[in-house]
Amino acid sequence: MSKQLILALSKGRILDETLPLLADAGITPAEDLSKSRKLLFDTNLPDVKLVVIRATDVPTYVQLGAADLGIAGKDVLLEHGVEGLYEPLDLNIARCKLMTAGVSGLPPSHARRRVATKFVNVARRYYAEQGIQAEVIKLYGAMELAPLMNLADEIVDIVDTGNTLRANGMEPRELIAHISTRLVVNKAAMTMKHDRIKPLLARLDGAVKQRQAQLTE
Ligand code: ATP
Ligand code: PRP
Repeated sequence: MSKQLILALSKGRILDETLPLLADAGITPAEDLSKSRKLLFDTNLPDVKLVVIRATDVPTYVQLGAADLGIAGKDVLLEHGVEGLYEPLDLNIARCKLMTAGVSGLPPSHARRRVATKFVNVARRYYAEQGIQAEVIKLYGAMELAPLMNLADEIVDIVDTGNTLRANGMEPRELIAHISTRLVVNKAAMTMKHDRIKPLLARLDGAVKQRQAQLTE
């Protein structure tokens, strides 16, 4: 087994919040990620490398052991499933909510509901638990458009400020889950590389706690 630890980072919004947290934990990429077309990076720590990939691919890389650790949104983990993964740390960044939403002022229909979302597994589970019949329609983005175009009655999507919903004549309905970014670890790597993963976890845990302490000061 490789001596190096590979940490998979989610591109996009999460990456912007992850890099300062990694810096607080004493982990810095050897070059500027935003100025490079590379996907695999050395860091200041000789045994730690970073890969920067689509957020939805992070659980797959870690589950299959291509990466030892990963940083991913709880929404992505709920959708993908966490078999083969430990989730030891809530990094407390990119906080938002996973919610149902519909057209403002229009009561949810009692008949079979058409639900547009990229979180199809989460949505199927949620509506089944609520005893609501739902036809779940997979979309890859711009979920807020679906009810306006009469493609769906409701959506399941990320809500933070609610601005995107409001701008499209929609309102949040039910909370499905509070979301934040999590550190995940491949279960086999946690055993086999424990001596190297443990100090990395301690660094990240320290950085998260330090931030929380600063916030409550
Ligand atoms: P992809 O480009 O792979 O489809 P994406 O567009 O969903 O991914 P981002 O918008 O960068 O990627 O969001 C990544 C993660 O950030 C989400 O999985 C979620 O955990 C979190 N997130 C998304 N939207 C918000 C938001 N408005 N506020 C806070 N966190 C958010
Ligand atoms: C995310 C999410 C919602 C929006 C919610 O989109 O998909 O559309 O944020 O945030 P709000 O409640 O503060 O408006 P993002 O801005 O990341 O764009 P995307 O559609 O490219 O993912």
